[in-house]
Amino acid sequence: MACYRLFQTINNVNHSETKRISVMAAAQPPAPVIPLLTPHKMGKFELSHRIVLAPLTRQRSFGNVPQPHAILYYSQRTTKGGLLIAEATGVSDTAQGYPDTPGIWTMEQVEAWKPIVDGVHDKGGIFFSQIWHVGRVSNEGFQPNGQAPISSTDKPLTPQRRSNGIDIAEFSPPRRLRTDEIPQIVNDFRIAAKNAMEAGFDGVEIHGAHGYLIDQFLKDQVNDRTDRYGGSLENRCRFALEIVEAVSNEIGADRVGIRLSPFANYGECGDSNPEALGLYMVESLNKYGIVYCHMVEPRMKTLAEKLETPHSLLPMRKAFNGTFIVAGGYSREDGNKAVAEDYSDLVAYGRLFLANPDLPKRFELDAPLNKYNRDTFYTSDSVIGYTDYPFLD
Ligand SMILES: Cc1cc2nc3c(=O)[nH]c(=O)nc-3n(C[C@H](O)[C@H](O)[C@H](O)COP(=O)(O)O)c2cc1C
Repeated sequence: MACYRLFQTINNVNHSETKRISVMAAAQPPAPVIPLLTPHKMGKFELSHRIVLAPLTRQRSFGNVPQPHAILYYSQRTTKGGLLIAEATGVSDTAQGYPDTPGIWTMEQVEAWKPIVDGVHDKGGIFFSQIWHVGRVSNEGFQPNGQAPISSTDKPLTPQRRSNGIDIAEFSPPRRLRTDEIPQIVNDFRIAAKNAMEAGFDGVEIHGAHGYLIDQFLKDQVNDRTDRYGGSLENRCRFALEIVEAVSNEIGADRVGIRLSPFANYGECGDSNPEALGLYMVESLNKYGIVYCHMVEPRMKTLAEKLETPHSLLPMRKAFNGTFIVAGGYSREDGNKAVAEDYSDLVAYGRLFLANPDLPKRFELDAPLNKYNRDTFYTSDSVIGYTDYPFLD
């Protein structure tokens, strides 16, 4: 706007005045570059900035069907050329472990996603669906016919306080998947990715983080298998990589990303050598040429709390050939630093973006931020704590 006004003024004055104004304009120091607000080419996607909406479960998809109120929620957080990752979305009827999380395995769900995706596209956003299976982080109440949740193991998970700090989640002992059943689960991810394309998404993020099914195969604290999906690092990564391959073959590797949290140990899902695990995964991912790898910071070892740690994602960032996204406890300042120092290409923001629908604008202006309200993260209201966080104006 300021440039436009100056241009109008210049057009209305005589030549000598024009010269004086342009000298004055030239003398102004250039606006400082804000690294997070610089463009980035992510495969075939031209991103206009590097601030990504992290996947955020909101538990407002009643009966596992996305609801019309999500149109406003996501479109509020959309900018032209900005990347958004939708909340974790179940790949099948065995994938759920929380109330009212969305799915993408039925045509009703696919149809319900369409207007939400359209809302993002109408504002020029790029929208990926995060496809998910919780594995043993579930109980019989969420499972078809009250069956046991499936996992890499039959080791049960001890009851845990939910991240709202109040509810205690109870888990049923899981049933260890037989080797011959694993291709069916891989296929569920493939079909979910196909459905995501049908719904209009630009791509999918395979949820390989946070102690859910894929992580239950990756990590040696949980995976106690003796078949070709357990034991060695190569064997533990096989399930994740078969999903990457199947999904890439279905929709094209240029539309596939993955989220990993090698250092986290949520859901009693830790690894004795997270650095080796992270490196093995990114080196293997390079063979498939997927478009991005999204990693959660080692400081987010436990849910939502930052810890001091000597570990870093830098070796994985350096080893990965595609776009690298980091997440976990980022502020405006350290997001800018991460980009400026080439620690990452993009930075995903969770809680700050949840509470600040216009986060990129606020970062641009270095404006104050709304505070998030943890109490309404997972309530079912379609407005409160969801679409009622104020914009700057
Ligand atoms: C309310 C809430 C819901 C979340 N849901 C998901 C999810 O569906 N999928 C996922 O991979 N991570 C999920 N996370 C983790 C966030 O994507 C992010 O990694 C985490 O909040 C740390 O980033 P932040 O410090 O910017 O919030 C969730 C976090 C919160 C607070």
